[in-house]
Amino acid sequence: MNLTALDWAAVSRLREIFLEGKPLRRAYWESENDLAAYDLTLGERIGWKWDAVLTELKARNWSPPPGPLLDFGCGSGIAGRRVVAAFGPSHFSALHVHDRSPLAEGFALKRAQTAFPKLTCERLKPEELTATTPLGTLLVSHVLSELPPKDQARLAALASRAQCVLWVEPGTQSDSRALIAVRELLRPDFAVVAPCTHDAACGLTAPERTEDWCHFFGRPPWEIFTDSAWSEFGRRLGIDLRSLPYSFLVLQRRGLPSATTCVQGCSRTLGHARIYKGYAKVLTCEAAGVADLTLQKRDAPKLFKALKDGEAEPLQRWERTGDRIVPIDG
Ligand SMILES: C[S@@+](CC[C@H](N)C(=O)[O-])C[C@H]1O[C@@H](n2cnc3c(N)ncnc32)[C@H](O)[C@@H]1O
Repeated sequence: MNLTALDWAAVSRLREIFLEGKPLRRAYWESENDLAAYDLTLGERIGWKWDAVLTELKARNWSPPPGPLLDFGCGSGIAGRRVVAAFGPSHFSALHVHDRSPLAEGFALKRAQTAFPKLTCERLKPEELTATTPLGTLLVSHVLSELPPKDQARLAALASRAQCVLWVEPGTQSDSRALIAVRELLRPDFAVVAPCTHDAACGLTAPERTEDWCHFFGRPPWEIFTDSAWSEFGRRLGIDLRSLPYSFLVLQRRGLPSATTCVQGCSRTLGHARIYKGYAKVLTCEAAGVADLTLQKRDAPKLFKALKDGEAEPLQRWERTGDRIVPIDG
């Protein structure tokens, strides 16, 4: 990160706006400089969340269907570029960007064209937003909390026209809950690819689970912890660089080749395990629902340590007796 060129005032102003997490009446990108500073810092952190999601999807051997990719609420376009880089520019017929800020659209386009000179990169035509024709892959990243309910409903309607939806949000309780609402709304027509290991109703919609939410933690690249520029960024903005929470949702239209078979029988750990003396409590999600289960340290010392260090794989196969679990795969 090039600190000398960084506009700290711009990054701090943007951070304040994002912390508010409320719909705003006006676009907040004031200059290309804002977008460049965001892209290098706050945007890059979002890029690491996408890296975690895309790594998981690729490990499942899953890719979105070929066709156009639409980055809705593109900002500096970092999420669109991560997705194109992950699956390869030739996988998509075009990258379309849309943002209520024309400045952001222009910036995202320029960066994408530089990164992928052979890919067609265009602004989404305004009439496409309200058309009824099918869309390719819809990508949404860190937008939901900025939309008033009316615009959230419009975005859900846009998603309902897609072949595939890739959606990442910050990992707060309210963003996770909003994503769950989208999942349940679209589930009749869409299969759930991730994070769920099943296609049933979301277990967090059960009345006894209203306090819980579906979130995970990405891992920033280790190099940043020895980089004075990133330390300065963390210090000035009061951001703990180690913590990278996110929620996500990947859906594909029913009828496309299934991607969930390889995770059938797996449970997914939500959030961090809670560590106690000699045991861990793990909030697990599977087709039967979400349950708070107990792993004894003596039953799986290696996994216990990985849970303690926040390094355990989120997908596990458990043998369960009452609320006690033992990993099947050792
Ligand atoms: C926090 S930024 C995220 C940018 C980018 N998606 C990312 O992940 O880095 C949210 C973006 O949503 C855009 N946005 C907010 N309301 C919007 C709306 N109603 N329609 C389109 N874009 C909107 C903002 O202009 C901003 O670029």
